[in-house]
Amino acid sequence: MAIRPVLKMGEPLLLQVAQAVEQFNTPELHALIQDMQDTMIALDGAGLAAPQIGVSLRVVIFGFKRNQRYPDADEVPFTVLINPQLTPLSDEMAEDWEGCLSVPGLRGKVPRHTRLRYQGHDQLGNAIDREVSGFHARVVQHECDHLQGILYPMRIRDFRTFGFTEILFPGRSFPDE
Ligand code: NI
Repeated sequence: MAIRPVLKMGEPLLLQVAQAVEQFNTPELHALIQDMQDTMIALDGAGLAAPQIGVSLRVVIFGFKRNQRYPDADEVPFTVLINPQLTPLSDEMAEDWEGCLSVPGLRGKVPRHTRLRYQGHDQLGNAIDREVSGFHARVVQHECDHLQGILYPMRIRDFRTFGFTEILFPGRSFPDE
């Protein structure tokens, strides 16, 4: 197990389209996911994409448990999602605040589909097929954007809703994605 450094915005690898995983249940894939999980937990994140630790593969993890720091947040089950496919289930979009471990100290308001279906596989190759909404849907869209080389600031419509967390929300903390 290892906590890996998270690449920050400006690194060219974060702008690449990541490659599909072709073999499941391999030692390399399990090691990658273990490192991603260790890194996400160490940084108290709600999600992490493989490119953020320098691996340009279509692997994301996410999950979020309500706790004392975040008493009002929706819970999201811990999920490993490989080669994801997203299908919006409505045209409705909602804006809400996001942060990213690759864009530390900042938050911005990002429009996302409110309901979507996601499909893919876990690390053993088992199929995943879920319909989700709310924060769960937001986190999935944020993580899967990383696989297309898209960071959330690229989706902000009004740059007046982009700034430093400590200025926008004094004294509060958030899980970054
Ligand atoms: Ni992110």
